[in-house]
Amino acid sequence: MNILVLGSGGREHTFAWKLAQSNRCKALFVAPGNSGTEAIATNLNIGVTDFEAIKTAVIHNKIDLVVVGPEDPLVQGIHDFFLQDDLLKNVPVIGPQKAAAELEGSKEFAKEFMMRHNIPTAAYESFTRDNVEEGYKFLETLQAPYVLKADGLAAGKGVLILNDLKEAKSELKSMLVDAKFGEASTKVVIEEFLDGIELSCFVLTDGKDYKILPTAKDYKRIGEGDTGLNTGGMGAVSPVPFATKAFLDRIETEVVKPTVEGLKKDNLPYVGFIFIGLIKVGDDPKVIEYNVRMGDPETEAVLPRLKTDLVDIFEAMANQTLSKIDMDIDDRAATTVMLVSGGYPEAYEKGKEISGMEKATDSIVFHAGAKLHDGKVVTSGGRVMAVTSYGNTYQEAIKKSYQSIENLHFDKMYYRKDIGFDL
Ligand code: AMP
Ligand code: GLY
Repeated sequence: MNILVLGSGGREHTFAWKLAQSNRCKALFVAPGNSGTEAIATNLNIGVTDFEAIKTAVIHNKIDLVVVGPEDPLVQGIHDFFLQDDLLKNVPVIGPQKAAAELEGSKEFAKEFMMRHNIPTAAYESFTRDNVEEGYKFLETLQAPYVLKADGLAAGKGVLILNDLKEAKSELKSMLVDAKFGEASTKVVIEEFLDGIELSCFVLTDGKDYKILPTAKDYKRIGEGDTGLNTGGMGAVSPVPFATKAFLDRIETEVVKPTVEGLKKDNLPYVGFIFIGLIKVGDDPKVIEYNVRMGDPETEAVLPRLKTDLVDIFEAMANQTLSKIDMDIDDRAATTVMLVSGGYPEAYEKGKEISGMEKATDSIVFHAGAKLHDGKVVTSGGRVMAVTSYGNTYQEAIKKSYQSIENLHFDKMYYRKDIGFDL
């Protein structure tokens, strides 16, 4: 099978790494890819939302399956684009159609979906500039901290958590009236604050059945002790130690099943990953958000634990035979630590040479914001590399990642030294 992966992050390098291990994968392409995917696949210099160029590449390279990494092409309807094109309609796309991608594309859509299907989540109301005054009144009925969410995609920056009522009102105004997040904040969801510990659950579905992948916990803040600005994610641990069998059973019954059933009832065809962001409040699972793709860097800790052939899984998803697949999961823990460019998630420099990868042999180094330049691997983004290790315990795995990182260098390299600290 010839396979095309769309995206250029650590998540996509991990997909490519896993797919390349399958003897069923004849030729592997990544668009646009990075220096890590270039070593194991053919990179195509095409943007993930350039559907016409993707079409040409799919035809030219006789692609049999497309795996979509990031949310943007899904929310913009890449799956629908394939279905509507005579030359592409028989090429399966792993990733939901546009209507279902709204689960990530619109927070209000996701909240309404959860309400309709009785899926536990925070109480909420949504507002536009036309009823901003009612938004202030709703805030007055809530206890601090106040959670404001831009309805649309805002590159992970659209959620504000504020301790002060006055500040919450002024931020609401700046989102709705002054378009703080542009189009994304023409609508704002205000939510009840949920106090608990977060984890992520990853589900594969073919639209009929589902399989649950190992859980993971992601570390979103830039600073140690979960302080400072939000990032795309600074590290991940899988499995999540506090996710006991009893808790996982509750997640499956109260969240996963009603989600997959809800998609069917609402006539939202879905072949792809569902990433469910959860928070454990007391003993109860509550949904914080849906994403319609895998997490990054969670993928770098979750996929290395999957022993089943990923080509078999994707093919079964496309053929709606997922129920026949046995998911074989490695018992070992896997952890990943992100190396980032100094300054990230604010301004940072690029083009710094990265050295020492060949010495980090006890870990798997997944490239993210890294590219080849004049034969050298240089930084090209904020999150640069994810260093993944296995261990009998997550502590052992993390220790190994930190040991491997000792070998890796680039100017102004930064990483959190406390991944897993709260477990
Ligand atoms: P989201 O973009 O929806 O994942 O939100 C970003 C982060 O904000 C989450 O990972 C949580 O840490 C936090 N968050 C979102 N919604 C809530 C909530 N209702 N209560 C507490 N924290 C929240
Ligand atoms: N690591 C969180 C995300 O991928 O959205």
